[in-house]
Amino acid sequence: MRIDQRISVEFAFPVVFTRGIFSPGNTALPDALGGEPARAFCIVDENVPKHHPALLAQIDTFFTRATSHLTLAAPPLLIPGGEAAKNDFALIERLMAAMLDLRLDRRAYVFVIGGGAVLDAAGLAASLVHRGLRLVRIPTTVLSQNDGGVGVKNGVNFQGGKNALGTFAPPAAVVNDFDFLSTLPDPAWRAGIAEAFKVAIIRDRDFFDWLCRRATAFFSRDAGALEQLVVRCATLHLEHIRTSGDPFEFGSARPLDFGHWAAHKLELLSKFQISHGEAVGAGIALDSAYALERGWISVAEWDRIHRGLVESGLQIWFPELARPELFEGLREFQEHLGGELCVTFPRGIGDRHEVHEIDREAMVRALAVLRKTATEPA
Ligand SMILES: NC(=O)c1ccc[n+]([C@@H]2O[C@H](COP(=O)([O-])OP(=O)(O)OC[C@H]3O[C@@H](n4cnc5c(N)ncnc54)[C@H](O)[C@@H]3O)[C@@H](O)[C@H]2O)c1
Ligand SMILES: [Zn+2]
Repeated sequence: MRIDQRISVEFAFPVVFTRGIFSPGNTALPDALGGEPARAFCIVDENVPKHHPALLAQIDTFFTRATSHLTLAAPPLLIPGGEAAKNDFALIERLMAAMLDLRLDRRAYVFVIGGGAVLDAAGLAASLVHRGLRLVRIPTTVLSQNDGGVGVKNGVNFQGGKNALGTFAPPAAVVNDFDFLSTLPDPAWRAGIAEAFKVAIIRDRDFFDWLCRRATAFFSRDAGALEQLVVRCATLHLEHIRTSGDPFEFGSARPLDFGHWAAHKLELLSKFQISHGEAVGAGIALDSAYALERGWISVAEWDRIHRGLVESGLQIWFPELARPELFEGLREFQEHLGGELCVTFPRGIGDRHEVHEIDREAMVRALAVLRKTATEPA
């Protein structure tokens, strides 16, 4: 006997853009969640209140307001920010233990306020407790607002593997508050710009043209230009996940991972001294140089890509790219995808194709082009 079981589950969640999320009169968060009473637990990237000293008091006032239907189960829990949050599995255990000790059930909300790394780590913990608590992401960096934080994945690094453990778990809501972005250190400011170039190069030529025109504004930290970038990039990212037909990545094609095979390896080779976003800038430059070598983009297109990245403040060459171990990144990427190797490259600007084999000599030439371009005067 055989029963062919088929299940489809619809996921729906709002992604809201606002300012002053916890200030009096801002209803973005309650509006995103609906009015049902629920318990809530907040996990906060410790670097956020360092730069926004009123935040913890604002959170407290927000939840104790008479009109709030949400009750804080405990004071907010501060955890280390940055990749450290993803490199220590004991932290995940600690977060899960806290959620169980507080007797959070599947109706409770876990609010996570922080950069992409903290969202990934706390999101994983929340997705495992009782097989999934309701996660509300409040991303505080450019990259997490326009890329990681609006997606459906979380994860941590394990046994030397980037994102080696993780789950697919769409959030209950995402609220992006632009006010957090003003205090970002320069590398975190630039990180999200790299992801915007990534999605533009393979999906949207108009957006790419706009990014190139605004590159120097990003470099000089023009907040208005950056906010437009965040909205457009998040919209494209969400659209890709919604329409690609493979939101949980069962197939091998992973267009949003353009430039990421080298980027993930760069992060690991540098022991995370190079951040994810900075590594993505170099990774997409490398794979664009490879596309140039293979005749998939023209010299003029290559010039625009590397100029756009550099003018935005991104570095396209890191000494770690010269290490022979870089090529292990292709095998590791394949293992992470499952099945055959499948790497996305641009075909012109705004379009893409998947490639299942990399010509190592052409990649070595691409590395040479990248190194030369990065060192010669503009
Ligand atoms: N889940 C996904 O789909 C997905 C997608 C892309 C990237 N990611 C992951 O996201 C991570 C990178 O995220 P990121 O670029 O946000 O960096 P990050 O989380 O490492 O944050 C960078 C630094 O900025 C600090 N910070 C955060 N908000 C701040 C603020 N408002 N003001 C001052 N400092 C602040 C952090 O504590 C950290 O020290 C990587 O681990 C990457 O793998 C996940
Ligand atoms: Zn990325």
